[in-house]
Amino acid sequence: MISPFGRNDKTMKNTIRIKNIFMIKHKNIFQKITIALLFSVSVFAQKQARIVEDFNKNWNFKLGDYPEAVNANFNASDWRILQLPHDWSIEGVFDKDAKTKQAQGFLPAGKGWYRKVFTVPANWKNKMVSIEFDGVFKNSEIFINGKSVGIRPNGYISFGYDLTHYLNFGKSNTIAVKVDNDSQPNSRWYTGSGIYRNVRLVASEKLHVGKWGTFVTTPEVSAEKSKIHLEVTIDNDNASAKEFRLVTSIVDSKNIEVANMTSTEKIGAKTSEKKIHNLEVKQSKLWSPENPYLYKVITKIYEKSKLVDNYETPLGFRFFNFDSEKGFSLNGVPTKILGVCLHHDNGALGAVENIHALRRKLTLMKEMGANAIRMSHNPHSLEMMQLCDEMGFIVQDEAFDVWKKKKVTNDYHKDWDAWHKQDLEDFIKRDRNHPSVMMWSIGNEIREQFDSTGIAITRELAKIVKSLDTTRPVTSALTENVIEKNFIYQSGALDLLGFNYKHEDYKDFPTKFKGQKILASESVSALETRGHYDQSDVIKAWPTKHGAPFDGNADWTVSAYDQVKSYWGATHEENWKTIKSQDFMAGTFIWTGFDYIGEPDPYPYPARSSYFGIVDLAGLPKDVYYMYQSEWSNKTVLHILPHWNWTKDQEINIWAYYNNADEVELFLNGKSLGKKSKQNDDLHISWKVKFEPGTLKAVSRKNGKVVLEKEIHTAGEASKIDLKAEKNSIKNDTYDLVYVTVSMLDKDGNVLPNAMDLINFEVTGGGKLVGVDNGYQANLDSFKANSCKLFNGKCVVIIQSNGKKENIQLKATTAGLEASTIKVKVN
Ligand code: GAL
Repeated sequence: MISPFGRNDKTMKNTIRIKNIFMIKHKNIFQKITIALLFSVSVFAQKQARIVEDFNKNWNFKLGDYPEAVNANFNASDWRILQLPHDWSIEGVFDKDAKTKQAQGFLPAGKGWYRKVFTVPANWKNKMVSIEFDGVFKNSEIFINGKSVGIRPNGYISFGYDLTHYLNFGKSNTIAVKVDNDSQPNSRWYTGSGIYRNVRLVASEKLHVGKWGTFVTTPEVSAEKSKIHLEVTIDNDNASAKEFRLVTSIVDSKNIEVANMTSTEKIGAKTSEKKIHNLEVKQSKLWSPENPYLYKVITKIYEKSKLVDNYETPLGFRFFNFDSEKGFSLNGVPTKILGVCLHHDNGALGAVENIHALRRKLTLMKEMGANAIRMSHNPHSLEMMQLCDEMGFIVQDEAFDVWKKKKVTNDYHKDWDAWHKQDLEDFIKRDRNHPSVMMWSIGNEIREQFDSTGIAITRELAKIVKSLDTTRPVTSALTENVIEKNFIYQSGALDLLGFNYKHEDYKDFPTKFKGQKILASESVSALETRGHYDQSDVIKAWPTKHGAPFDGNADWTVSAYDQVKSYWGATHEENWKTIKSQDFMAGTFIWTGFDYIGEPDPYPYPARSSYFGIVDLAGLPKDVYYMYQSEWSNKTVLHILPHWNWTKDQEINIWAYYNNADEVELFLNGKSLGKKSKQNDDLHISWKVKFEPGTLKAVSRKNGKVVLEKEIHTAGEASKIDLKAEKNSIKNDTYDLVYVTVSMLDKDGNVLPNAMDLINFEVTGGGKLVGVDNGYQANLDSFKANSCKLFNGKCVVIIQSNGKKENIQLKATTAGLEASTIKVKVN
């Protein structure tokens, strides 16, 4: 049995047992509590009233333009059948002449139609039925039974429609979705095309909580007691006025109720009204990145004793402050924002949203020590927001990359006048209950920063944000730090100044922007290819300025030593040293946590994905990941680079990132090459070593005691394909994913750091292959192929549940070696 709060039988039994012990000890108190419990049990024992259905399955899809597909009698039998979320661009072929251009990774866009025939039960006739789209890229138009119910140009916005008056109850219905991503170029990075996020069908009674209808704030927060202010927008679609009971229940992370309130309310016919509940939670547990403790607000509406709606809102207790001198603090504790910027694509999955892909990404960032994410430069998915709440990331939520002035020919500036108000409002309403969100960014590097029109627009946008939420600062990611030239700043409407790049200028900010709260909203933009190492002693900008020639690598790689940067950026170390030493600076968001498709600076075609990531597109960390881990996390780190497969006597730079130790000693084939320690603000140590094959070993010590040891060996001949799954089992729900890292090993188990072999894959049982990637930015092979070339020894295969409850087997083969297999359980 599943209780209304989702607890299973076993938990219920334990709760009962605990209650019995409690009863013997405290008989009187128990009697009082029993009355309260009985009341709440009777209130909560009723079923859910709101029906939320996964609407992702059994869609037909076809590339091209099919206006006649809106009709019920249209024959879509030759259309592909698929499950959403779906991105058709990622299935396409890289084309040097693609209209999307380099910024979008040379993948196709165009137009496409989705269509689905479905029935709604006859007994929904008196309900209100709506459809929710988390994101469609872009220019969607939705048709139900031949009639258009709405258009939405913005591809990142979550939106929904009331379908009640369009549906045939108890009969067949046709939904058709037109997606038009044909006008190109329309973005500075890869967007994907199609219904790339989840879709749900929602049925509620005519008296219900409105769309994004709750707003929870916490006017007082402390470990002793926190106050909750809840606004609930109730919609009454009935033709008569209604009297109802509004019940709020606050439950902790174990779904145990910790506060409740009931009020009797009235609402007029065909109207919408806001109702307020104020509650208090004693011994409230605070939310933080280290302990992201979450509560939930459960809202229920009763007409007499009938439950007519139920609705859940996330809740976390935390307070934070930005200070012009001391930077950021969370729950009273000074905290540097250690953030990364992320674009929304999921590598080989393209824009397809998947909570398991996101969890893997965020887990990698968490283990690196990041405590914050900047949602660059547009609304991300619901799942992303939920995971940031659950996993503990401070979020800078960002609305726009352009306002009225364009960055590329067909970008959002074309929709600005007609849509920016609604898009901004919907964005805030959807995300304002997430405790992780601590800043609203109204724009990234907006062109209006440089002319006086920026003043009025900034004020207008800040006003819209404030009309919906005054609990978080409004910021914008600026590039211009000359006050006279920055009109967004001059508007005076920002609560927090975000500055992108130019880290050398930060030291002047406390005097220049006296009294202002400041954050490095975007920094670094260093360039690296995983596993590629050029021997150099200098830091380079590639190119040194816009359009300047530079001596890039013929194979479109960039060295993974942290030595190459964009001309507007910094190396990771240069930036972090600056941020670390300046207390007024609230923190930094590194561009970027992961490589993303598109924007492959500094190279032209065939480079098609970015070089900026701390982790490559396949999800394999580059070396600098360990610099951050040694500085940002509590983990004890000792990481040495590069690999140890070179030509005899070649002089190699050995770098080590380490922490929690005073020195590192390096040995080559047992012979000490000396001890080194970081001096002053050093973030790594290095040696120059003449290569001889064998074993390079590093030993970190503290007070003479060994902390960690790391060895790298010269790898021999290829002997075995190694397959490592990131988890042992997945669910048979058609969504769950397992990522398998593929490496080439020698007979002693050493990874061959230069292996580029083509590996073929075969997946059988309860899974299907949904993506392959090796992280090489100029790889033009399809992300959807059944094979992948190793790049610098590795690649990754992504397998998704196909719904069958059979164990998955992945078989990997390559010329000249025995096949390797791995099994993954399906539950
Ligand atoms: C920034 C911009 C980002 C990205 C980055 C690349 O200026 O805000 O979107 O383009 O440069 O370095």
